[in-house]
Formats: sequence, structure tokens, C-alpha cells
Amino acid sequence: MPSLKGQVATPEGIVGIEEREFQLELFPECRKPSPRGMFVTFEGGEGTGKSTQIKLLSDYLHSIQINNIQTKEPGGTEIGQELRSLLVTGDKDKFDAVAEALLYYADRRIHLTNKIWPALNEGTWVLSDRFADSTVAYQYYGYDKKVSKELLDDLYQIAVGDFKPDLTILLDLEPKIGLERSFKKAINMDVKETRHESRGLEFHNNLRNGYLEMAQLEPERFVVLDANKNIEQLHIEIVQTIKERFKL
Ligand code: TMP
Repeated sequence: MPSLKGQVATPEGIVGIEEREFQLELFPECRKPSPRGMFVTFEGGEGTGKSTQIKLLSDYLHSIQINNIQTKEPGGTEIGQELRSLLVTGDKDKFDAVAEALLYYADRRIHLTNKIWPALNEGTWVLSDRFADSTVAYQYYGYDKKVSKELLDDLYQIAVGDFKPDLTILLDLEPKIGLERSFKKAINMDVKETRHESRGLEFHNNLRNGYLEMAQLEPERFVVLDANKNIEQLHIEIVQTIKERFKL
């Protein structure tokens, strides 16, 4: 952040004028009109059923007149789709975890500025299949902490600022089961999006434990649900969670 000169009172407290202008330019989310939509993210390893649950939740929210969009990372925007194909297809070792983190953050920044923040500012809820927790789970914990956590924290500050999901639903599942589901799904796909699935079980166990650790550190944001339940039961639990969290 640039150094502060004059100060100005804003809904977010007293900040330097230069900082405020800088924030408004780079982080349009700072305008936070009221009411803005809620930002709900779904996280989890491979094959945990996030996309199915997001669709069911979206239908439920529409049924109670809550405007919402479904989106995902990587690839929630047209440009992001190109980054997605670079990131999730091909040889698992074609670039390293630092390059991956930078590309995921490029996708995230485009996703925020072109889709997430504009929707939230219109009062629309955004349901996202993955967000920044995925980068910590995959690029930090998955790679056995070979990438520095400080680098990922800095990237978060640069690209996302102080913005955070209002709720993160972590679908937790034994990686063996999730990977089996995921490979089965890939057999029916034209383009094989299995770059991360092809890493060993240790990578996936690491990232699962990482997710659980993150959830423990931020209990006010995370809710952990057992993804081994059947689709309907899990949906009921997600709706209950949403009702409690947002007093619906
Ligand atoms: P998915 O949409 O099928 O979950 O595929 C996205 C893949 O990208 C998945 O293997 C997780 C991985 N990923 C990361 O490694 N880091 C990230 O920051 C994100 C958003 C996804």
C-alpha cells in the first residue's frame, strides 16, 4: 500500500486519502453498498460433489427469491477459461507451484473484477466452486509447504485485498473415494482435466489435512460437512447452514 498523507473517514474507518483512492481503484468491492449480495465459496478436494451442491443451492435460493449466480475457479470468466485449460490439463510437472499460484491468482483477479464484485454490488449472491483457499490447500499444503505461505498471503493482499467470502463450505472426503469419482467423470470428458488428480495420494492427503487445518483456524467463516453423505442429505445440511448463517 502507498504511504498515507491526508486522512478521511469512510465506512471502513479512518484511512489515508491516497490509500482510499488506491483501494477504490484496485478494490471496487470497498464501495460495499448495502445490501450487497453474499459471497459463498465451496471448497474441497477432488470429486467431493461441489458443483452438484452449488447447483442445488442455487435452485433453492432462487425458490426463495434470492438472486444468485454460480461460478468457479479457475475459469469463471471467458479469459479465465483460457487460464483454466493451461492449469488443469497436460503434464503435472509442466510448471511448478509458484507459477501455478501466480496463474491461479491472475484468474482470481479477473474473476473478482469482472464478475464477483460487480454481481455482489448489484445485490446478487455469488456461489463459487473454489476460491483462494484452494490455492493454500493445493499449492501450499498439497506440495508439502514447499511454496512459502508468505508468498501466497502477499498474492492475496495484492489481488483480493481485505475482501473475504462470507461463508466457506468445506466438503470433506477421503481422497481415495474422491479421486475415484473424479477419474470416472474424466473418462466421459473430451478434454481430460486431470492434471492435479494425477499427483499421488500423499499430495491429496496433505491438501485434505490442510483444508481441515484452515477450517479450524477460521471457524467463523468455515463450515465442514461430510461429503460422503448422499446428495439429498448433504443438500439439506447446506440449506440449514445457509439459513443459520444468514438468518433466512
Ligand atoms: P475443478 O474445477 O474440477 O475442481 O478443477 C480445478 C483444479 O484446479 C482442481 O484440481 C484444483 C485446482 N486448483 C488449484 O490447484 N489451485 C487453485 O487455486 C484453484 C482455484 C484450483
